Amino acid sequence: MFTNEGPTLRELTVQALSSVEHGYDLLAPKFDATPFRTPERILDVVVRTLRPLGPFSAGLDVCCGTGAGTRALGEICRDRAVGVDFSAGMLDVARGAHEKAHWVRADARALPFAPVFDLAVSFGAFGHFLPEERPGLFAQVHAVLRPGGVFAFPVGAPPRLGSWPYWAMLGFDVAMRVRNTFWRPPFVMYYRTFPLTEVYPELERAGFTVELLPLTELGRRRDGSPRAALLVARKAA
Ligand SMILES: C[S@@+](CC[C@H](N)C(=O)[O-])C[C@H]1O[C@@H](n2cnc3c(N)ncnc32)[C@H](O)[C@@H]1O
Repeated sequence: MFTNEGPTLRELTVQALSSVEHGYDLLAPKFDATPFRTPERILDVVVRTLRPLGPFSAGLDVCCGTGAGTRALGEICRDRAVGVDFSAGMLDVARGAHEKAHWVRADARALPFAPVFDLAVSFGAFGHFLPEERPGLFAQVHAVLRPGGVFAFPVGAPPRLGSWPYWAMLGFDVAMRVRNTFWRPPFVMYYRTFPLTEVYPELERAGFTVELLPLTELGRRRDGSPRAALLVARKAA
């Protein structure tokens, strides 16, 4: 899963015993060599799916990390792509890797922008938000979008009950809950806290209309359904 350039087990353990923000500061120099960075093939499919929904002029990558998604935003946004993250370490790496984008250090739960974006995306970060924080997060994204703006993010099909990924995710979340019961500061990262049955109505209550676009290029499950989809939430025009 990890290459030689990636973090050692000891480094990952130290990261996991920190806060989310400080943990990512520590991981930042090696983050791009971990499987946690969103792979290019996912970014490419998302870009291809979003392009016909445009044109877009200004895009925001929420929880941008080292900027994988922000770079992809640059391909579809005419004027500017902005990445926002609360880890200074991750933003330092992003700044060094992608010259054209703009970087802002801020908490996604309090976005410091006027409604100037017509596209917002987010990749691989929702596990860092507790379910009770989601309505606030969605309201923040809604507030920084122009009328008619789009908030889009890829979602994976939930693993089949009893399958290996099902048990792996369950095991990870249980271990995190135990860790967070006994250790401060908490490290919020859960795999099973983002069910679409809850996310859909929360986005609608935030003022979005929501649709799911299948990302069939990322494969199909045994029953023929797509492994992944792009959730597209649009703010009223
Ligand atoms: C798994 S990384 C994903 C990075 C990038 N989006 C990618 O796909 O490669 C999660 C990122 O979310 C950021 N993050 C987590 N909670 C955040 C918050 N409340 N506000 C801003 N950034 C946050 C972390 O600092 C980290 O850079």
